[in-house]
Amino acid sequence: MSQSYRVAILGATGAVGTELLELLQSRNFPLSDLKLLASERSAGNTLPFGGEMLPVEAVGERSFDKVDLVLASAGGSTSKIWAQKAVAAGAVVIDNSSAFRMEPNVPLVVPEVNPEAARTHRGIIANPNCTTILMAVAVWPLHQFKPVKRIVVATYQSASGAGARAMEEMKAQARAILQGETPETNIFPYPLAFNLFPHNTPINDLGYCEEEMKMVNETRKIFGTNEIAISPTCVRVPVLRAHSEAINLEFAEPLSAIEAREILNRAKGVKLVEDWKANYFPMPAEASGKDEVLVGRIRQDISHPCGLEMWLSGDQIRKGAALNAVQIAELLAAKNWLQVPTASAANA
Ligand code: A2P
Repeated sequence: MSQSYRVAILGATGAVGTELLELLQSRNFPLSDLKLLASERSAGNTLPFGGEMLPVEAVGERSFDKVDLVLASAGGSTSKIWAQKAVAAGAVVIDNSSAFRMEPNVPLVVPEVNPEAARTHRGIIANPNCTTILMAVAVWPLHQFKPVKRIVVATYQSASGAGARAMEEMKAQARAILQGETPETNIFPYPLAFNLFPHNTPINDLGYCEEEMKMVNETRKIFGTNEIAISPTCVRVPVLRAHSEAINLEFAEPLSAIEAREILNRAKGVKLVEDWKANYFPMPAEASGKDEVLVGRIRQDISHPCGLEMWLSGDQIRKGAALNAVQIAELLAAKNWLQVPTASAANA
């Protein structure tokens, strides 16, 4: 990586945005300029980077002039307004929202799984849904060894998935409840502190919510197959940061827990966390702030000869969002794929 890049973070003040800032710094991404963009609300604020305080600007028509790379994490509606404009201005956009993930011309990339897909971008690369990334990192190495036919997964998703304000809301709810007061809800539909509820995205005719369908459709796109049957149940739990997932896998032929453990022990982006005697397995509190997806409780499914059970916890803000985006940026920089192909820039 000899070249350096002019980078903009759209949504710099958010939970993922601030993590992007930290990661660009700690991973020494080759930067020649960094622009922090957010809404009008944050214009004039400053954020620390490299020992300096950088100003936050309200995103506008000229924001992407002289920018090579945009890391966007400001929600789908904001990405829909600005991503194409950034591409038209010559920047490659790595978008953390769901706005473009299922578009055929937009690669959906988890670097441990499908790095080559990034090469085909036409200006926009989508960063997958957080629960999908965490599951993909853990399941892909096993799928390479013996094909997975079916996944049944239940998620335990932290407040961070709904953003920085949602994390603050949950803390305020906890304080209110402990003081005997009624908790306020603005971001979440119901109190999350001392509670949990099925993920509150719109539900389709089949009874699956949007978050669950993201796991189905995005996993298939990342794995490059529609042959895997996937049935998720997504649940929001009163954890501040880091999601967990209980995953049941059905393989085409038996895969032993010992084999699975050996494979995952060598797998990129995975850390095995298992002490059966101590009943010590991945926990969101320990996954928080870590790059790896923590995987454990790998065991044969006693209800199915080709079944395997496992449990994971992974930092939703880091590998589930910001880290995955920065890894994609590093991949583009290393492979020299960080340019918008000119002919197709306008119709990415
Ligand atoms: P702001 O702080 O100015 O509202 P989170 O996911 O943690 O809620 O963060 C969302 C991020 O997206 C924040 O940086 C937020 O900026 C930014 N954002 C939200 N709406 C807009 C918008 N309409 N234009 C630009 N940035 C936006």
